Amino acid sequence: MQEEREQWGSRFGLILAVAGNAIGLGNFLRFPGQAASNGGGAFMIPYFIAFLLLGIPLMWVEWGIGRHGGKFGHSSTPGMFDLLWKNRFAKYLGVMGLVISIVIMIYYTYIESWTLGYSVFSMLGSYSGMADLGSMDGFLKSYQGLNPDGYFSSIWTAYAFMIVTFIINFTVLWKGLSGGIEKLAKYAMPLLFIFAVILVIRVFTLGTPDPAFPDQNVWKGFSYIWNPDLSKLGDIDVWLAATGQIFFTLSVGMGTIHAYASYLRPKDDIALSGLTTASTNGFVEIVLGGSIAIPVAVAYFGVAMTQDIAAGGTFNIGFVSMPVIFDKMPAGGVFGSLWFLLLFIAGITSSVAMAQPVIAFLKDEFRMPHKRAVLTVAALVFICVQPVVFFLGDGFLDEMDYWAGDFGLVVFATVEIFLFAWIFKIDNAWNEINEGADIKIPMMFKYIIKYVTPVYLVVLLLIWFFQKALDKLLLTDAAPEQVPYIWGVRALFAGLVTLFCILISKAWKRRKLAAAKAAKE
Ligand code: ALA
Repeated sequence: MQEEREQWGSRFGLILAVAGNAIGLGNFLRFPGQAASNGGGAFMIPYFIAFLLLGIPLMWVEWGIGRHGGKFGHSSTPGMFDLLWKNRFAKYLGVMGLVISIVIMIYYTYIESWTLGYSVFSMLGSYSGMADLGSMDGFLKSYQGLNPDGYFSSIWTAYAFMIVTFIINFTVLWKGLSGGIEKLAKYAMPLLFIFAVILVIRVFTLGTPDPAFPDQNVWKGFSYIWNPDLSKLGDIDVWLAATGQIFFTLSVGMGTIHAYASYLRPKDDIALSGLTTASTNGFVEIVLGGSIAIPVAVAYFGVAMTQDIAAGGTFNIGFVSMPVIFDKMPAGGVFGSLWFLLLFIAGITSSVAMAQPVIAFLKDEFRMPHKRAVLTVAALVFICVQPVVFFLGDGFLDEMDYWAGDFGLVVFATVEIFLFAWIFKIDNAWNEINEGADIKIPMMFKYIIKYVTPVYLVVLLLIWFFQKALDKLLLTDAAPEQVPYIWGVRALFAGLVTLFCILISKAWKRRKLAAAKAAKE
C-alpha cells in the first residue's frame, strides 16, 4: 500500500526546520574564519551584495520550485525539474540536487561528530593542560588518527563518535518529517539560541583576560573582525569567498530547501517564510557567529596570532584555538561543552536536511516505504563516509567539500534559476513565488531573479573557469601523495552521478509503463 505524503505539523515548525537547515557549522565556524581572513568589515560588503542578489532570490526560487514540485508529488529535484522543463533531459539535471546534498551530508556528519566528541572531552577535561595551540593541534590530529603519538593512539574514538552521530541523524530521519525533523528543530533551535547567547555574553564580559597583555582584549577582537580593510575589495578572491559563504550558510544550491518546501500546501506562504529563514540565518551568523570565536581569540592570543588561526581554516578555529581558550578560562569545561554542543545542534539540524532529498526521491519515485528508504540512504552514507574518516589526511574531505560544498552549489543554482526564470518563464515563476504570499515582494525582485541573479552566477562561473579551472582539474597545486585520493573522490562523484542517473531513468520508465497500463484499463 502506498504511504500518504508527509506534511509539516505547523508553519512555525517548518520555519524552525528550514532555519535549522540553514544555521549550521557554517554560521559559527566558517563565517568568522572567512570574515576575519578576507578583510573583516570589508568582507561584509560583498557578503551583503551576494545576500541580496543571490541569497534571497535563490531562497524564493528554491521554495517556489519545491512547493510547485510538491503539488505533483515530487520532493526531489529530478521530478521538480521535469515539471519545469518538458524535455527528457530535465530530470537528469536534477541529479545535482541528490548528489550534492548527500555528498555534503557524508563529510558534514563526520565533522559534526567531532563536535559531539569535543563536548564530551570538554566535560571530562580531556584536553586540559594543553595550553598552547601546538599541543591542541596535536590533540586534534591524534583524534583524527593523524598522530599516533598523541593523546589518542588510534582513530577509533573518532570512529565511535561518528557512529553515534550517524545513528542520531538517522533516528531523527526514521521518525519522519513532522515527528523527526520538525520535532528536532522545535527543541534544538531554542536551545541553540540560548547556548549562543550565553557564549556571546561570556565573550562580552571577558574584558582583558590576561593582565600581562593589556593590549589583548575582546574589544580589539571586535574591531579586528569588523574593521573594514577596503583595499581587499579589489581582490576577486574576497568576492568569491563572500559568495561561497552565502551559498553554504543559506544551504542554497543543495536541493534541501526544495525538499522541505515540497511538503507545503499549494497556497501556503513562501515569500515571508523564505525571507524569515534567510534573515534568521543572517542574524545568527553575523551577530552571534561573529561575536564568539574571533573576538575571543584576539582577547587571548592577540591579532597577529588570530590572523594565522583564521587563515588556518575552519577546523583551526573550532577545534584548536577554542579548546585552548576554554582551558585558560574559569569554568572553561562548562563553556567548552556549551560551545561544542552548540555546534553539534547547529550541525544536526542541517545534516538531517541533507539526507532528505535522496530519501524523498526513493519514496516518491520508487514508492519505497519510508523506513526502507531511510535504511537505504543510511547504508549509502555509511559506506561513503569510510574513506572520509580514514583518508582525512590525504585530502579526501577537502576535495569533497570543494566540488560539492563550494563549486557544486553555484553550478546547481545557475541551472535551477535558468530553468525556473527562463524555461518555466518568469511570469509563471513570479506567480508561483507570490501565490499565498503574506508579504508583497517588491517588483524589483522579479527583474533581479530574471536578469541579475543569472548574470551574477554566470560571471562567477566564468571567473572560476578562467582563474581556477585548469589548475584545479589538473591538480597543479595538489601534493603528489594526495593525487590518488583526489582521483578517488572524483571517482566517487562519478559513481554517485551514474547511480542516480540510472535510478532516474528506471523510475521514469516505471512511471511510463504504469501510465500506459492505467490508460488501457
Ligand atoms: N547551511 C549549513 C551551514 O551553514 C550547511 O552549516
